[in-house]
Amino acid sequence: MKNEIKLFAPATVANVSCGFDVMGFCLDSVGDDMVVRKTDRKGIYITKVKGFDLPTDPKLNVAGVSALAMYDALDVDFGFEIEIYKNIKPGSGIGSSAASAVGSVFGMNALLGYPYNKTELTQFAIKGEALASKTEHADNIAPALFGGFTLVKSLKPLQVLELPTPKDLYATIIHPQIEVKTSESRGLLPASVKLQDAVTQWANLGSLVHGLHTSDYELIKGALHDVVVEPHRSKLIPLFGDVKSAALSAGALGAGISGSGPSIFSLCKGEAVAHKVKDIIENVYMDLGIDFDMHVSKINTEGVKIIS
Ligand code: HSE
Repeated sequence: MKNEIKLFAPATVANVSCGFDVMGFCLDSVGDDMVVRKTDRKGIYITKVKGFDLPTDPKLNVAGVSALAMYDALDVDFGFEIEIYKNIKPGSGIGSSAASAVGSVFGMNALLGYPYNKTELTQFAIKGEALASKTEHADNIAPALFGGFTLVKSLKPLQVLELPTPKDLYATIIHPQIEVKTSESRGLLPASVKLQDAVTQWANLGSLVHGLHTSDYELIKGALHDVVVEPHRSKLIPLFGDVKSAALSAGALGAGISGSGPSIFSLCKGEAVAHKVKDIIENVYMDLGIDFDMHVSKINTEGVKIIS
């Protein structure tokens, strides 16, 4: 059995407009690299963090907290060292904390010969995610672990549904380089929702799930609306409305806030449309004076994976 594993922990898009806290999908071209290795000394050690200035105390680091949650459930006479090569900026809205939380437990599980299934790993990873967002939710963790589109049916007991990914679906992401903390972005949300808005939202979520099952792109397009969360959070994102209109005019099926923002995702039928959407959004943001990154990605149906 190996003593060291290098892995790719992918970025993810949570909420997907109509599925606040339950829906998510996994990206292919964006993510962190991590190394997890066994060590003779007992415990969890974060031995390297590159890319962003994050704590190496495992109790203060998302990857460390999820690793400790798993380690506490184990009875082993060795420990684990974790190296994190972070490409996903914390606070970007594309699942930076989930990638770290998932990578450590996935790597440890692989080194142990896979004693836990992905639902059990989700339970450990949720503990790490909670450090960053001050609440337990799994809509980034589940797609990072399982790949594709996932729906978190419930947290207690944890039930994750794996949904099919229509083969021509691509995502375009713009990440304006401003930080929006998930905890603050959650604080903007109202405690209750109007019945009519709830009706619209659950009709859309049901339609999105059906559209994914039947590869019905028109139904997916009609479902990608958010009348509950977006009206409150969109104020945090410069030019959100302009970006969304531009994406739709370039042929995107839909566009919305990725997770708690500030990233904005668009879903598109076909890679060519996804690139057209990228170009038009780039033009919208170009003169704003805020740095931004853009990504065009296939939907990653595999999730976190071993590189070597
Ligand atoms: N569902 C969460 C939220 C995702 O929107 O607050 C945050 O990563």
